[in-house]
Parts: sequence; C-alpha cells; structure tokens
Amino acid sequence: MSRFWSAVVHGLTPYVPGEQPKLANLVKLNTNENPYGPSPRVLDAVRAEAADTLRLYPDPNSDRLRAGIAAYHGVTADQVFVGNGSDEVLAHAFMALLKHDRPILFPDITYSFYPVYCGLYEIAHRAIPLTQAFEIQVDDYLTPNGGVIFPNPNAPTGRLLALGEVERLLAGNPDSVVVIDEAYIDFGGESAVGLVARYPQLLVVRTLSKSHALAGLRVGYAIGQAQLIEALNRVKDSFNSYPLDRFAQAGALASMDDHAYFERICAKVVATRTRLVAEMDELGFEVLPSAANFVFARHPAHDGAELAAALRERSIIVRHFRNPARIAPFLRITIGTDAQCDALLAALKAVANC
Ligand SMILES: Cc1ncc(COP(=O)(O)O)c(C=O)c1O
Repeated sequence: MSRFWSAVVHGLTPYVPGEQPKLANLVKLNTNENPYGPSPRVLDAVRAEAADTLRLYPDPNSDRLRAGIAAYHGVTADQVFVGNGSDEVLAHAFMALLKHDRPILFPDITYSFYPVYCGLYEIAHRAIPLTQAFEIQVDDYLTPNGGVIFPNPNAPTGRLLALGEVERLLAGNPDSVVVIDEAYIDFGGESAVGLVARYPQLLVVRTLSKSHALAGLRVGYAIGQAQLIEALNRVKDSFNSYPLDRFAQAGALASMDDHAYFERICAKVVATRTRLVAEMDELGFEVLPSAANFVFARHPAHDGAELAAALRERSIIVRHFRNPARIAPFLRITIGTDAQCDALLAALKAVANC
C-alpha cells in the first residue's frame, strides 16, 4: 500500500494468471495452451517482419488482419475489432459496452477476469449460479440488466451452451449488450458469429491463443455490428493506438489463412480429449462434458488441492481453484499431446490409488 496510489488502485483485486514455470521438463497442463506449435506459415510471416521496417509504427488499425478475419467469418472488416489478446478486447468491451446503470450478469463460476474488470471500471455485477450440473440456465438471464457476458464453452467447466439457447438469451435481451467469449469454441461448439447479422446487441469475442496455438503472440478479436465495433475503437484510441505490433499482425493473418493446419491441430486435441475423458472415467473421476481444450474433473475420494500438489511432485502442473468452494474438489486439466496425457494418466493412477 502506498499513499501515492489512486483510490481505485487501493480497491483492486487483480487477476492471477496460471503459473508460467521457469523449470524445463514439466508437463504443463495449467493454462490451456495448445500443445502443438503454430502453423509453419506463421513462423515464416513473423520472421519476415524482423526487418528494418521495425523502426516504423505498425498499422494502428490492423487493416489487413481485420480483412483476413472478416473473410474467414464471412463478415465485413468494419465488423471486426482486434486487440492485444482477447483479454484486452474484453477489457475494452467492459468499458465501452457493459458500463451502464444496471448491474451486468455473468455466471458465478466463470472466467475470473470478469469481476476484475468490473473492479477496475467500477461496474456493478450480479453472479448468476450455474445449475447443479454446472450449466448456464438461460431463463436466469431474462431479467433487467446492464449487459450479459459469459464464455461459451464456459471456463473453467468446459460446458457448452447450445447455439439455440444462446439465441434464446439474445432474443430475451434486446436492449442490453450480450458478449459471448468464444475462447474455446473451436474445440467443439458452434459459434454465435452467424447471429451477428440479426442481433445488433451481440458481440462475439475470440482469441488466437488456444485453437491457433498463438498464446505468445497476443491476438484476440471481436465480431459485432459496426456500431458496437465503433465503441471499442473509441476506447482503444483513448488508450493505445498500436495494440498489435508488426509480428502479431503478420503472424495472426498467416494463421487465419492456414485453415488446413488449424483444423488438423484442433482435431488432434479433440481426439486426445475423447481418449483422456474415457480413461479418467475408468479411474473413477467425474469429468464434466467438455467442449474445450481442457477438462474439469474431480475424484470422489480425493481433495482437489491434494491431487494438484501430488501431480506437481511428479512434474505435472494442472490448475486448481480454491474458490468458490463448490469447485475446490475439481482440477482443470489442459489437453496436451497424447504422450503428455499418458504421463498424466499414469500419475493420476499412482496418486489416486486407482
Ligand atoms: C474464457 C477466457 N477468455 C479469454 C481468455 C484470454 O485469452 P487471451 O487473452 O490469451 O486471448 C482466456 C484465457 O485463458 C479465457 O479462459
């Protein structure tokens, strides 16, 4: 605490990202990164940017990248906003579109950055409990609100809300912005991007960190009707005009263009997830249905924190959340390569004694 801090800083409870350990040889299954590298075309594009042109600022509006994203999704470039990771895109959405008189709504168990943005921007919120089975119940969101945000699939549960239910939520909220955070949608869900044309209040936020294996490049984007995008641009240009550097713009564009590689690595992650879930079931774990690149699981006879610590002793790191108490028995485990999953299964067998 310092007397030099502003009042808002005194009141902040910042987000705590998953550990990025300095040790080598760890099986790192704690931050939902992709176990496969990015497309070779991305590496070529990034290398080509290591040139004299680095003395010049990058394109402040990322025009080529936005055109590439628009082409991929069948929308227009003025319906696309890009940012330094989807965290930045989300932050701008909170400021630009979710700060109104009424509290915003999001699930009680969800991406823990949302309440942090509420704290930073002084936005009131109401946490809506998930069902017993950790599902979002749309009827709970059909009440007056200042906006709605949730990830689909949800994090850290991995549970998917069917597109028909997403549309029912939109139809029941014609007057507030609904942000769907699709960080994990490429691993098993149907995107809401196709609904943007019909719902002016819909903003879909996506990232290249997970399905494009580019967490280190920091590129996220949002798709919505031009009026929503303009609000995001107003905040961006009041904050940082150059959020994406030259490497990020070139690498992200190359990734959006390499569909075949993208589809191949997503299919590999999904196949490994299917096998991991089946084998964890065999070991007596309760694994929530996952449409993401991670699973959320507990063992009826073992405490979540204990399991996480025992895995760590075997050089495997997974994510454990102490709060809320309802999820304390669970581990969130990123889908790794098949070899990493085999190491995980062997360790689980040993530590859970099954
Ligand atoms: C639900 C959700 N949204 C957004 C993000 C942020 O991703 P990034 O800032 O890397 O795009 C994450 C990262 O883990 C996430 O889990």
